[in-house]
Amino acid sequence: MADALSIESLAFRWPGQQHNTLSIDRLQLPAGSSLFVRGPSGSGKSTLLNLLAGVLVPTEGVIQVLDQPLSQQPGKQRDRFRADHIGYIFQQFNLLPYLSVIDNVMLPCRLSRRRHQKALSEAESLTAAAGDRLTRLNIPESLWLKRVSALSVGQQQRVAAARALMGLPELVIADEPTSALDQDNVDNFMDVLTGQCQALGSALVFVSHDRHLARWFDQELELDAPAPSRNEAVS
Ligand SMILES: Nc1ncnc2c1ncn2[C@@H]1O[C@H](COP(=O)(O)OP(=O)(O)OP(=O)(O)O)[C@@H](O)[C@H]1O
Ligand SMILES: [Mg+2]
Repeated sequence: MADALSIESLAFRWPGQQHNTLSIDRLQLPAGSSLFVRGPSGSGKSTLLNLLAGVLVPTEGVIQVLDQPLSQQPGKQRDRFRADHIGYIFQQFNLLPYLSVIDNVMLPCRLSRRRHQKALSEAESLTAAAGDRLTRLNIPESLWLKRVSALSVGQQQRVAAARALMGLPELVIADEPTSALDQDNVDNFMDVLTGQCQALGSALVFVSHDRHLARWFDQELELDAPAPSRNEAVS
């Protein structure tokens, strides 16, 4: 089966900066497996996720996602690829507050015919597929038609995870999705998210500065402190 990710000689530098924000010699993530990315604030964790999702392109090197040379494709193709193959859980969830819970969860299938068809291959309707995800993430049916803004932060987080998993994306990307949760809820969320990715065969790339979360993952990548701090540490 295709690798979920493969990175060779990657460097990324924001315009106007003297140092690379990020450099990774080599990384390979088999299909369906999970990677924990950790590092201090400013080490480039969110930048890496944006590179993996094809929002940014590397300054040097190659990123392959599902054996596609994503980093070498034009912007429109990368946008299409992201909608079709990647479920993204944002730190602030990015749920649409004026839509209901279930409409939020169905959104990826409205933006991608491929994910729409995949959702329908495992359920009678999009609503049934979304309901299945929500049930697995412990969001009771009594909440499905409510506006998402009426839910607690922990509930919204699980709705964001349900949305990312709609239409069986091969890669799920999560940017510090546990930062607003207490420890009990973190454990529960991690159990459910990693369990769901395994059950659906989705690879998972998960960012956090909390090293205690590493135990849920197959592989770990630690990013260095930003370049000026590295210099301070040496002198
Ligand atoms: N839009 C941008 N334009 C220019 N430089 C940026 C931009 N976004 C980030 N950077 C630079 O890239 C570095 C890495 O930022 P990034 O957001 O990837 O860090 P992070 O590891 O996700 O930090 P945090 O844990 O605080 O979220 C920052 O220190 C900043 O200097
Ligand atoms: Mg970040």
